[in-house]
Amino acid sequence: MLKKLRLKKKQQQQPDVSSADTEKQPTIEAEVEAEAKANVTADIKIKDSTKEWPQRKVTLAPDQPLLEVRNVERIFDVGSQKLHVLKGINMQVMQSQLVMLKGRSGSGKTTLLNMLGGLDLPTSGEIWFRGEQLSAWSDDKRTRARRDDVGFIFQAFALMPLLSAYENVELSLRMANIPRHLWKARAQHCLELVGLGKRMYHRPFEMSGGEQQRVAIAKSIAHKPLLLLADEPTAELDTQMVAQVMGVFQQIIETENISICMTTHDPTIMEVADHVYEMVDGKFVS
Ligand SMILES: Nc1ncnc2c1ncn2[C@@H]1O[C@H](COP(=O)(O)OP(=O)(O)O)[C@@H](O)[C@H]1O
Ligand SMILES: [Mg+2]
Repeated sequence: MLKKLRLKKKQQQQPDVSSADTEKQPTIEAEVEAEAKANVTADIKIKDSTKEWPQRKVTLAPDQPLLEVRNVERIFDVGSQKLHVLKGINMQVMQSQLVMLKGRSGSGKTTLLNMLGGLDLPTSGEIWFRGEQLSAWSDDKRTRARRDDVGFIFQAFALMPLLSAYENVELSLRMANIPRHLWKARAQHCLELVGLGKRMYHRPFEMSGGEQQRVAIAKSIAHKPLLLLADEPTAELDTQMVAQVMGVFQQIIETENISICMTTHDPTIMEVADHVYEMVDGKFVS
């Protein structure tokens, strides 16, 4: 406490201290920072009882991609015609990465995203998820992986209108078969993570679009998926709310050990991506 006060005083006396100067005397600041960090970690540990969380069998090496797409094509039969929508897609999503797919409407982004989440299968090519070939799994196994390890966010927020933010998040824990005694702490933790700790008991219609989308994010990550797939999650938001949502994405990548793959056609948000794939007519251009 005393140290913090002293630091404050020092800053007041020398408001324009240069970074070179502060580097020469790092002790107080480093200590205060370490103290603050320790407090944050302690908070998260208390609220988020990860110890009892159902165990995952999968472990990936740190340099192994979470998701890998190899020569994927998707051809739809429309009447007597064949519609060639994906024409040889290759991509990777590493662990804790934010990857964006950009491209005009109709270029094939949603089709690809559905495949990444195991909702649809490629006509040819392979999709590898957490070290295994997802595109060769049975329907059952894909459904289980989707339920346990993938979270989805859609453009329209897909919240239950009569349930509060808290109940919406709790519902997704219930559906993921997470033991009941873990629901409360985890739902609260996720809502705090998206900055809605104080609005947990509000219902969607009492919230702004940005807030509703943040509830949708809390809901989609509550069961601790490895991969979050978001289809134009910012399309219906204004600039300020887009910034909020992107901020939350960056934060959950840091704290939740998750990878995010999202589609967008908003060029202004792409600078926060680790990688951007641009889709033109079913193919990536570089
Ligand atoms: N199930 C389907 N059956 C037939 N055509 C489809 C199907 N899903 C998507 N398409 C077509 O694939 C093309 C790409 O669609 P989509 O992946 O939704 O593009 P985007 O998300 O980039 O707007 C469109 O021409 C669309 O009509
Ligand atoms: Mg789409």
